[in-house]
Amino acid sequence: MESSPFKKDCLKGKVALLTGGGSGIGLEISTQLGKHGASIAIMGRRRQVLDSAVSSLSSLSIPAIGFEGDVRKPDDARRVVESTYNHYGRIDILVNAAAGNFLVSAEDLSPNGFRTVLDIDSVGTFTMCHAALKYLKTGGVGRASSGGGVILNISATLHYTASWYQIHVSAAKAAVDATTRNLALEWGTDYDIRVNGIAPGPIGDTPGMRKLAPQEMQSKANDYMPLYKLGDKWDIAMAAVYLASDAGKYVNGAVLPVDGGLWLSRPRHLAKDAVRQMSRVVEKKTRNTPVGVPKSKL
Ligand code: HXC
Repeated sequence: MESSPFKKDCLKGKVALLTGGGSGIGLEISTQLGKHGASIAIMGRRRQVLDSAVSSLSSLSIPAIGFEGDVRKPDDARRVVESTYNHYGRIDILVNAAAGNFLVSAEDLSPNGFRTVLDIDSVGTFTMCHAALKYLKTGGVGRASSGGGVILNISATLHYTASWYQIHVSAAKAAVDATTRNLALEWGTDYDIRVNGIAPGPIGDTPGMRKLAPQEMQSKANDYMPLYKLGDKWDIAMAAVYLASDAGKYVNGAVLPVDGGLWLSRPRHLAKDAVRQMSRVVEKKTRNTPVGVPKSKL
């Protein structure tokens, strides 16, 4: 993987707590925040995943600890946030990367399935932010009197338009983005906390891609999405380093799509040369048409 363009110590002395930080995109963010000087705490449901992530971070000399917990349970959120503080003595960065997903048509999705994903992605994100507030705010527990922390919420671009078989996730990520902006307004103003989001496109070698985009779908994607290409987990992690570090000190309330422009993608309906030709002809015709002449006379 490419080396980082950021200074190695740009997050030195910072402590980051990541939900879903033990696998996929979350693990790469944990790794890159750690490589840039942060100490890492990971929250996740599966002990085995946590242990493996902590051992991979430790092998890179990154201070790391894993705490079991489910973001849907407010008691777990409080316990993990407190444990992170007790372990490291401060919390500077909260990354909400935990998410739930499966492909299903709206017709086949039960209301409980819809609610489950909103509980994990949307309510879970707010629950973690709420639990971490007293540690992140300027003058908060373990902080100097000036300078608040940073929150990064991982969402998606699904809800910018509409997405097949992803009604639950689209709704959940829309709520995450709204939460990002509202907390940026309230907590940025009151507590000097910067709250930003990252909206990844399709990222290779992740549980999300394995679940949502079988291989045959990926090979067909070029047919209907001209810009289609996979991103790397590194691309998302670099956005996280930027937003978490002082490089992003004036960025608050932004949701940064990191998808190579894919969400804008649509098939080209005319060749560029055809447009050049046709556009001139149409312009000429328009210019030569006398003003006020009824259409029927043209
Ligand atoms: C239809 C389903 C379903 C499926 C679950 N449900 N899977 N419905 N199709 N494939 C329904 C169940 O029937 C149930 O509703 C409800 O959802 C809750 O299911 P449980 O299995 O009880 O939930 P739980 O054990 O809590 O598991 C949550 C989960 C699971 C989201 C369903 O997949 C999970 O834990 N995922 C976490 C890991 C994950 O998904 N990672 C990928 C993230 S990728 P009923 O009515 O029957 O009770 C990602 C990318 C987003 O987030 C960006 C996209 C571009």
